[in-house]
Amino acid sequence: MISELQQLEKDALAELDTAKTEDQFLSIKTKYLGRKGLLTGILRNIAKVSDDEKPLIGKLCNEIKNSLSVKIDEAIQQQARQKKEEIILKEKIDVTLPGSSVKCGRIHPINQICREICSVFSSFGFSVVEGPEIELDYYNFEALNIPKDHPARDMQDTFYIEENIVLRTHTSPVQVRVMEKFRPPLRILSPGKVYRRDSDVSHTPMFHQIEGLLVDKNVTFGDLKGILTSFLKKIFGEVTVLRFRPSFFPFTEPSAEVDIRCVMCGGSGCRVCGQSGWLEILGSGMVDPAVFRNVNYDSEEYSGFAFGLGLERMAMLKYGISDIRLFFENDIRFLKQF
Ligand code: DAH
Repeated sequence: MISELQQLEKDALAELDTAKTEDQFLSIKTKYLGRKGLLTGILRNIAKVSDDEKPLIGKLCNEIKNSLSVKIDEAIQQQARQKKEEIILKEKIDVTLPGSSVKCGRIHPINQICREICSVFSSFGFSVVEGPEIELDYYNFEALNIPKDHPARDMQDTFYIEENIVLRTHTSPVQVRVMEKFRPPLRILSPGKVYRRDSDVSHTPMFHQIEGLLVDKNVTFGDLKGILTSFLKKIFGEVTVLRFRPSFFPFTEPSAEVDIRCVMCGGSGCRVCGQSGWLEILGSGMVDPAVFRNVNYDSEEYSGFAFGLGLERMAMLKYGISDIRLFFENDIRFLKQF
């Protein structure tokens, strides 16, 4: 029986050696020292032992029980300590380490130029209004004097949603929406997204425009020239040279496109201006009486001018960007340069 007890102690220690978790330690304790454990099992045969040996075996039994029990408890505590240390080590905050800086976003160059233009026109007394990007054919074309089947529609390759609903191809429909709601005098500016089926280094299917409209009594082409000249000088600098070139838009009469002397080459001719020395910047003109008729304005009493410009183009020229697609790739290395 003595040797049986010694073997039991040996086995228990060997198992303890390989155990790792608290659960494993506890199950060793139950297996050897529990009420129905192996030690109790051996002791059941005590009756077979001679009376002389009994106290000896009893003592040995207690010793083994106590020593195993202490060892198991120690192992459990040790394991708990180790676990805690690992957690502390893992979560330790070293206050002397340099901090990791929070990356700060910035205003997109399109929004920067948009804000700049809005602020120039605000100083001229214009209010900023918005219109829907999903637009009725009526506002995008018809009310702007571009009837169905009119060749002018070909200039704007349109995304149709339904026969009479389009993704607006320009911001000009906002002119009509505003004039339907308000009576003159009016000075509004309307920035926003527009859509055309177009894609290359200078065209994306979605781009941004700003529309301007001024209606009052006695507005002349001179007012148009004055306001647009001051505006472009504020954006591109006082030395900017402009030219007004006759053009055609169905919703203005007369119409003019405005060019500035090329900001890249100063007019001597380069790749950006196509060797012409001039950059086309915006479309403009005096509001066509046909448009006034559509919104019940009396064109004998009122006159006005309108203009529209592309924000990507403005930003490309102002910041010297050669590919329009860079604006929409969301590459922080590009965006943080402005
Ligand atoms: N809507 C025209 C376009 O997208 C631009 C434009 C031209 C707007 C002349 C105007 C204007 O208001 O008077 O091509």
